Amino acid sequence: MEHPSPVVILGTGYTGLVIHALGQARGLRVLAGSRSPDEHLASIPPSQRLRFDLARPQTWADIPERARLIWCFPAIPETLVQGFAERVAPRISRLVVLGSTSAYEPAAPQKEGAAASLIDEDSPLNLALPRVRGEEWLRAHCGAIILRSAGIYGPGRHVLDWIRQGRVTASPRYVNLVHVEDLAGICLAALEQGRAGEVYNVSDSQPRPWAEICRIAQQRWGVESSKKNRKPEGGPGKRLSIAKLRRDLGYTFRHPDLYEALDAIENAAHHKSERL
Ligand SMILES: NC(=O)c1ccc[n+]([C@@H]2O[C@H](COP(=O)([O-])OP(=O)(O)OC[C@H]3O[C@@H](n4cnc5c(N)ncnc54)[C@H](OP(=O)(O)O)[C@@H]3O)[C@@H](O)[C@H]2O)c1
Repeated sequence: MEHPSPVVILGTGYTGLVIHALGQARGLRVLAGSRSPDEHLASIPPSQRLRFDLARPQTWADIPERARLIWCFPAIPETLVQGFAERVAPRISRLVVLGSTSAYEPAAPQKEGAAASLIDEDSPLNLALPRVRGEEWLRAHCGAIILRSAGIYGPGRHVLDWIRQGRVTASPRYVNLVHVEDLAGICLAALEQGRAGEVYNVSDSQPRPWAEICRIAQQRWGVESSKKNRKPEGGPGKRLSIAKLRRDLGYTFRHPDLYEALDAIENAAHHKSERL
C-alpha cells in the first residue's frame, strides 16, 4: 500500500503544535517546521522536526517531495512568498494556508444600530494588507486552500484572561472565535477534502458580542476586567458565516460551545495549579 505523503507544518507555534499532536494521534507522518527547531520544538522528537525559514530559501529544499503543507504564519513578504510559489509549489501535493478574518473589510450594518451583516468567502477583501496579497498569490498560483480563521483560543490563550488583563471590554462589538483543537482538525480536514484554490471561513459558527462574553464571564467564573474605563474599540465587528466549511469539509466540532470549552480550560488550569 502506498504511504500518504508527509504533512509538513510551516511555522509550528500555538496552532502548529496542536496540528502536530493531532496528526501523530491519527498515525500520519508529520514534520514540524521552525526557524529554530532545536530551541523551539524541544517537545517534539528530532526526527519529526524540520528547519524552515521563509527568509532563508536554502531551507526550502528540505521540504520532502509531494509533501502536504500547512502554512501557519503570515504569508509575507510578498517577494519571498512569490519565490516560494515558483520554486516549492511544483513539487508539493497540497497547500493549506492559515489566514485571518482580518482579511475582510468590515461589513456595514444594514441600518443604523443593527448588527453587522454576515461575512462569507465572497465578501470584499482588504488587499491593502500584505498578508492578504500573499495568501491570494498562493491561492492563484499554487492552488492553496486558504482558511480564514477567527480568533484562536485554547489552553493558555483565551478570552477570560483577555478580560482579566483588561485587553477587551464589554462592548456591543462582535467577535468570532475558534478553539485551537478545532482549528487543527479543520486544517487536516482541508488537507484531505478542501478544494484546491478555495477559501473557507473558520470559527465555531457563533459570532458573539463582547458584552455577552463579559457578562457570562462575570456570572459564571467571577471574572471582571481589570481596566473598567478602557475606551471600547469602535465598529460593529464582524459576524462570520462558516456555511461553506460545514457544507464541504464534513468536520464535526469538538468545542462547539465557547462557554463549555472555557469551563474545561479553567478547571484544567485550576487542577494544575493545585498539583504544583
Ligand atoms: N492568534 C489568533 O487569534 C489568530 C487569528 C486568526 C488567524 N491567525 C493566524 O493563524 C496562524 C497561526 O497562528 P498562531 O497563533 O498559531 O501562530 P504562532 O503561534 O505565532 O506560530 C507561528 C510560528 O511560525 C513561525 N514563523 C514565523 N515567521 C516565520 C517565517 N518567516 N518563516 C518560517 N516560520 C516562521 C514561528 O515559529 P519559529 O520562531 O519556531 O520559526 C511562529 O511561532 C498565523 O498566521 C496567525 O496570524 C491567528
